[in-house]
Amino acid sequence: MKKFLDAISEEMKEAFQQAGYDRELGKVTPSNRPDLCEYQCNGAMAGAKRYKKAPIMIAQEVAGKLEDSQVFESVEAVPPGFLNLKLSPIFLAGYLSEMAEKPKFGLERPEKAKKILIDYGGPNVAKPLHVGHLRSAIIGESIKRIARFAGHDVTGDIHLGDWGLQMGLIITELREREPGLAYFDDGFTGEYPEDAPFTISELEEIYPAASARSKEDSAYKEKAMEATYKLQNGVRGYRALWNHIICVSVADLKKNYEKLNVEFDLWKGESDVHDLIPQMVEEMKAGGYAYLSEGALVVDVKEESDTREIPPCMILKSDGASLYNTTDLATIKERMEKIGPDEMIYVVDKRQELYFEQVFRCARKTGLVKPETKLKFLGFGTMNGKDGKPFKTREGGVMRLESLLAEIDEVMYGKIAQNRSMPEEEAKDTAKVVALSAVKYGDLSNQASKDYIFDIDRFTSSEGDTGPYILYTLVRIKSILSKYAEAGGAAEDAALRPAEGDPEKALMLELAGFLGMIENAYEETAPHKVCAYIYDIANAFNHFYHETKILAEEDAAKKEGWIALLMLTKNILETCIDLLGFSAPERM
Ligand code: ARG
Repeated sequence: MKKFLDAISEEMKEAFQQAGYDRELGKVTPSNRPDLCEYQCNGAMAGAKRYKKAPIMIAQEVAGKLEDSQVFESVEAVPPGFLNLKLSPIFLAGYLSEMAEKPKFGLERPEKAKKILIDYGGPNVAKPLHVGHLRSAIIGESIKRIARFAGHDVTGDIHLGDWGLQMGLIITELREREPGLAYFDDGFTGEYPEDAPFTISELEEIYPAASARSKEDSAYKEKAMEATYKLQNGVRGYRALWNHIICVSVADLKKNYEKLNVEFDLWKGESDVHDLIPQMVEEMKAGGYAYLSEGALVVDVKEESDTREIPPCMILKSDGASLYNTTDLATIKERMEKIGPDEMIYVVDKRQELYFEQVFRCARKTGLVKPETKLKFLGFGTMNGKDGKPFKTREGGVMRLESLLAEIDEVMYGKIAQNRSMPEEEAKDTAKVVALSAVKYGDLSNQASKDYIFDIDRFTSSEGDTGPYILYTLVRIKSILSKYAEAGGAAEDAALRPAEGDPEKALMLELAGFLGMIENAYEETAPHKVCAYIYDIANAFNHFYHETKILAEEDAAKKEGWIALLMLTKNILETCIDLLGFSAPERM
């Protein structure tokens, strides 16, 4: 079905044509003066020069053609030549009824569904998830859901950091601590133990210890680099240890991402493309793209139009070791061969922008992707503390994601417990659901590329532009609907009625923007547009609710019309929060 703006523009275009003007002038836009009108059309202003006529005259002629319009209740030509529009409540209710009946509120399938791969999450194994990983997970998940809803074939890949020096560091530290383990015995030919020689908490202590030591002790670092090399070249015991590290870490990561309501289709990592590297390197050399520079193998990626310096992309270090971008390039090669996406979107900290510019250019230049393959870097800003600096623990350390989430759960529980009318257990579960909305909405309501301040008090507030406010609104609607059902009403069968009052109409006008909003949010990979849309709806609903005694209404038909409006509002809000990656409790 047509977007609301297109549907009403159609009527306006018809009028311009009938009055003898170019149809295309009849584009309708949201009103700049909501106090005067609901929508407006500036076509008469735009056409004045071309038709050598005063804009107000054109506007009047067009308005004349719309006197009996079924779409507009009023069309007013105002100086110097604007057309101020108010919608017909009958048309509006008709449009919304159609939305309510159709799957996905009338969203049509794209002409050609795209294959999209989203690379997000990007945690490093053996390191605890920290707040830096939060944004990638939250934004990536929402973009994935929006693109899928829009009808595309979307795959989410976590792209684990599981192959670099950090692995060599852990292996080296383990060797220092327990040199007697079979993994370090070159002569060992038996089966290695099934269980890992460490737990996740031990692993999380081992890595920082190793990393700190390597910074002070160069011989130790040497050993770690050698261990990395041996691992990558298939030394049996090291591979076996590495497998343990991956299994233990991944199990822990899965638990954490599950709590965040984030799901990946692929759990691939840098290590998965290791074997593809030699062939890729050969092709880059054979194509004349890669050359030796001071011993390292590089591909030039600068372009004449560059206004800043874009350094060459390094493919192999002088010792033959591969780098972060070698695995990213090989991953692109593998994805093109195995999945063949039309588009790849990377949701990564914006500080990696230059890096991705190099990788993308290199992938294009060396023919790893097709000329028409879209490569998009969606860089996000930093999550800051109230002091405006990157978010830290009170002690100034890196905040673990788990601790952060536990803190919000607690704050939320405190608020819910204050006016608690539910059992303890339910209050705890509810707090978790609402806390997740606070974190996710707090993040997603900002444009992704901007930094934002993580403010627990504000994010968990039930008032203002927050997740809990949206959930309170939804719960309020659900409660009215269940009371209606308890009294014997059938909300599913209720039919929408043309609005009689302004608050009701305002809510209907907000809801009507759904298809346009989805199109924008998808095309601009912008979850914040979903947030802005539902915030407007929540405000419009609450205004309507405060002005209207819904359940006490005596006119049954009127009441039924409102119930239908509530149903649609609820369904739209639920769909939207699902696109943002959270859900609503039954009560709060
Ligand atoms: N593991 C990386 C990091 O922690 C992020 C990975 C981003 N994705 C990618 N394809 N490079 O910085």
